[in-house]
Amino acid sequence: MNAIADACVATADPVPAPIDTRALRNALGSYPTGVAIVTTRTACGRPVGLTINSFASLSLDPPLLLWSLSKRSPSMAAFGESGYFSVNVLAAGQADLARAFASSAVADKFALLPSCDSPEQLPLIPGSLATFVCATEQAQDAGDHTLFQGRVLRYTEGEGEPLVFHRGQFTELQSRP
Ligand SMILES: Cc1cc2nc3c(=O)[nH]c(=O)nc-3n(C[C@H](O)[C@H](O)[C@H](O)COP(=O)(O)O)c2cc1C
Repeated sequence: MNAIADACVATADPVPAPIDTRALRNALGSYPTGVAIVTTRTACGRPVGLTINSFASLSLDPPLLLWSLSKRSPSMAAFGESGYFSVNVLAAGQADLARAFASSAVADKFALLPSCDSPEQLPLIPGSLATFVCATEQAQDAGDHTLFQGRVLRYTEGEGEPLVFHRGQFTELQSRP
């Protein structure tokens, strides 16, 4: 057996250690991500949106993407019922918007923005780097979150640098030569 295998055997623990949720969250925060705002509308037309970093591309053919929503979110019913959502990838300089859309205390998040809708009447975030308008393919139970899988119906892409989230802070990419 080589040294690496020895080390694996020596550290293997048959009883899984209890996971400290806060420590796990900190460890996960070492993975830098982009930042997006997902939006939809309630059945009576009220715009709904929140800041996420769980966005990921999933498939090109068919064009699928995913993100997850906390089951405790007051926005759950709207995203579950609408059948459509938009993902707006935030640009560097949109950290204030990301903070506002991450706060349940902001009564009307969309009052901060000029109104802009997709042809499906989904609210869009002006100034985003990219916007993906999706039909919900699946909403799947995933622990304390629901995993939304969407099929991209249309998208736009603009110029610029992304907003980045790393170790609990908004940041930006270092400028490239
Ligand atoms: C950078 C960042 C990323 C976040 N990512 C997610 C996410 O992927 N899913 C989620 O449910 N909440 C996420 N949140 C938390 C929500 O934005 C926050 O709970 C928000 O208040 C939810 O809006 P609501 O209360 O109107 O539903 C994130 C917050 C921040 C600051």
